Amino acid sequence: MTLSLDGTLAAFPAIWLRDNCPCESCRDSASDQKFFQPAEIPHEIAVVEVQAASDEIVVTFTPDGHRSTFSQKWLEAQRSAATMTPRELWRGVDLDETAGRAEWSRYLSDDAERLRVLRGVQRLGFAVLKGTPTTERTVLGIARTFGYVRETNYGELFDVRVEAEPTNLAFSALAISPHTDNPYRDPAPTMQLLHCLVNSVSGGESGLVDGILAANILRDEHPEHFIVLSHTPVTFAWSDPNNVLRATRPVLELDERGHLRSIRLNSRSMQPLRLDYDDIVAYYDAYRAFFGIVTDPSLARTFRLDPGDCLIFDNTRLLHSRTAFEVSGGGHRHLQGCYADLDGLASTVEVLARREQNPLL
Ligand code: FE2
Repeated sequence: MTLSLDGTLAAFPAIWLRDNCPCESCRDSASDQKFFQPAEIPHEIAVVEVQAASDEIVVTFTPDGHRSTFSQKWLEAQRSAATMTPRELWRGVDLDETAGRAEWSRYLSDDAERLRVLRGVQRLGFAVLKGTPTTERTVLGIARTFGYVRETNYGELFDVRVEAEPTNLAFSALAISPHTDNPYRDPAPTMQLLHCLVNSVSGGESGLVDGILAANILRDEHPEHFIVLSHTPVTFAWSDPNNVLRATRPVLELDERGHLRSIRLNSRSMQPLRLDYDDIVAYYDAYRAFFGIVTDPSLARTFRLDPGDCLIFDNTRLLHSRTAFEVSGGGHRHLQGCYADLDGLASTVEVLARREQNPLL
């Protein structure tokens, strides 16, 4: 039997309604998790009766006679896309001097400020907390204000300072071009924190570039290069005597809708391409074009990290860099960094937003 459904209900097939029944025999009231598999719903499921009363709609199904009660408001909310903080793509030259900046003491003591800063990370891809304690391991505490530290073979945290025999060029005084970290991991860490403890060197300026904007420019100006970088898997690797890390992914990874999911750009760990002759030549052309865009000075947001500054950024979207610095004059530069993940930050944003709407929670 078919039934014509009017209004809100008409947007939902019977199987969707049956799958999302909120009743106690279908869901655990404590966890809100489903007891059954969608595949267990009979193929011939259909709605046989609808009763509407104020804000509620009661639906009866055939063949099992199950009744589900939905709130009209809830059904309407399901018709719009999930709300996420929209990304705002930027060029460094267009960013306000104070963009992403926040004071640590206020961030810690005021939930509304913490929500604003974390939404800023979702929107712009970064934030700089000023005035954090300049003690070692503070970076871990900062990460734990919004998520979880992602431990790696480098440990819970890593020190960025000049080393006599660096295992990574990051631990030298050399300039580092725009890159993402750890492309040789699968999954790569989605967030990075860099906390400045000491900076008395000249040079060593930090830079950030919006990789999504850069990829959009490449797609607009050189669609053929964009196709190469988004469709050619590249192997990234890093090893030392105790670790062999390797991941094979395109530099520009797209989602199922063709939007950029993440960027892996790091020439230091890129392995030899194993492609046909012509494809190798095409790849280098594409890479050169993209690198030209990400190193365009107008795209970069540059700043000096002072002691007590903590830079937090999205490692799937932003590229980071630093200029060379001089240590021969007796200056020192010491940063501590750690990795975290975007899902922890998104969860904290949701919880803080809920509490802001309903302070009793
Ligand atoms: Fe890095």
